[in-house]
Amino acid sequence: MSWSRDSWRKYRALQQPVYPNLDELRDVETKLKTLPPLVFAGEARKLKTELAKACDGNAFLLQGGDCAESFLNLGANNIRDMFKLLLQMAIVLTFAGGCPIVKVGRMAGQFAKPRSSDFEEVAGVRLPSYRGDIINGFEFNEAARIPDAKRMIEAYYQSASTMNLLRAFSRGGLADLHQVHKWNLGFIKKPDIGEKYAQLADELTKTLAFMAACGLTSENTPTLTQTAVYTSHEALLLPYEEAMTREDSLTGDWYDCSAHMLWIGERTRGVDDAHVHFLSGIKNAIGVKIGPTATAQDIIDLSNKLNPENEVGRLNVIIRMGADKIEKNLPQILRELKREGLNILYSIDPMHGNTVKSSNNYKTREFDKIISEVRSFFEIHKAEGTHPGGIHLEMTGQDVTECTGGTLNVTEQSLEERYETQCDPRLNADQALELAFLIADFLKKA
Ligand code: PEP
Ligand code: CO
Repeated sequence: MSWSRDSWRKYRALQQPVYPNLDELRDVETKLKTLPPLVFAGEARKLKTELAKACDGNAFLLQGGDCAESFLNLGANNIRDMFKLLLQMAIVLTFAGGCPIVKVGRMAGQFAKPRSSDFEEVAGVRLPSYRGDIINGFEFNEAARIPDAKRMIEAYYQSASTMNLLRAFSRGGLADLHQVHKWNLGFIKKPDIGEKYAQLADELTKTLAFMAACGLTSENTPTLTQTAVYTSHEALLLPYEEAMTREDSLTGDWYDCSAHMLWIGERTRGVDDAHVHFLSGIKNAIGVKIGPTATAQDIIDLSNKLNPENEVGRLNVIIRMGADKIEKNLPQILRELKREGLNILYSIDPMHGNTVKSSNNYKTREFDKIISEVRSFFEIHKAEGTHPGGIHLEMTGQDVTECTGGTLNVTEQSLEERYETQCDPRLNADQALELAFLIADFLKKA
């Protein structure tokens, strides 16, 4: 089975839009192929070496961001707050785990959404589903919902400007460990979370003063002032991913240069389908979402296809079974995969298996269920002698009310106050930081 960047076209491709104007689609693809890559192959390789450490239990993957980025919400504040939240969570986890945290944003390209239903009905009106800003419009009218290939160009430029700011924040001072107190987001309202964080930041500041006394300063130790935040998104819209895939001049290998890491969703992971075929040919780190219906054999087949050389750090299996199913399903899977000797980085997405409708009709998630699935994930790994390697979250640095619970207790009634997501409900910054402290406890025990 030979691979080229367009060979996926011979396979069944699920969840793809039907563009009304094929000439325009071709023009967009041609244009995208000439635009500069958003990431470089060397960076994608660096991420793989860091994920390899997480695979061996010597690092931990923190992956998070919006369910869907939007064209409307592109702004410095949003990006800055997501960046700060990732840094805050990473600090909490570093202290607990005593190991490096690999930070990967669902950012700078997370625009395409798989949908369970092709249509959406509101008050008796039936329209094609919203599929993410890279495909069609969120507004609920007929014209907005028509797939528009030109949106790929806009998504590219938005990704480029997000990427640019992330790179600037990573190196330009914001990531300096001496700024740890300033990463706190203004609205962290839960006093004991805020206090716990301030305590940790104080400890870190003392440690830095001690290190400075020993001669390790910002001037001579760049790791104190710089960090790496990698980018990732679901590789769903294959014409876009194909156009962004380039041959690395150094190695002759193909890399999808739209992001450092790409993942395959639960709905498109068919082992004989186009998404798996496409991603099998690129050298980036690859994630695969694994829902409650997957068997160990499904994952073995995926691993053989996506990681035939069993390279450490290449394949991230993202478990998203739901709090009520993980205990029944995961142990057997871990056992069989261990027996096969497959190198897999396991992370937990406690969001997508725990989505419910509130009584007032909001798509939401209960904080307790999210915690429960994360706790089970750690406990099961401990029992099976395997590594809990990471966490995959939908979250925002903004003060939204989309998931219920948490110590500030967002209720079903308060969901309407700041329900801003264009797709799935995200943890707000308070909830995400609270979760980070809980994971820190699990990590300590692990
Ligand atoms: C997502 O991560 O937004 C998503 C759609 O996940 P899944 O494929 O696990 O349903
Ligand atoms: Co989602």
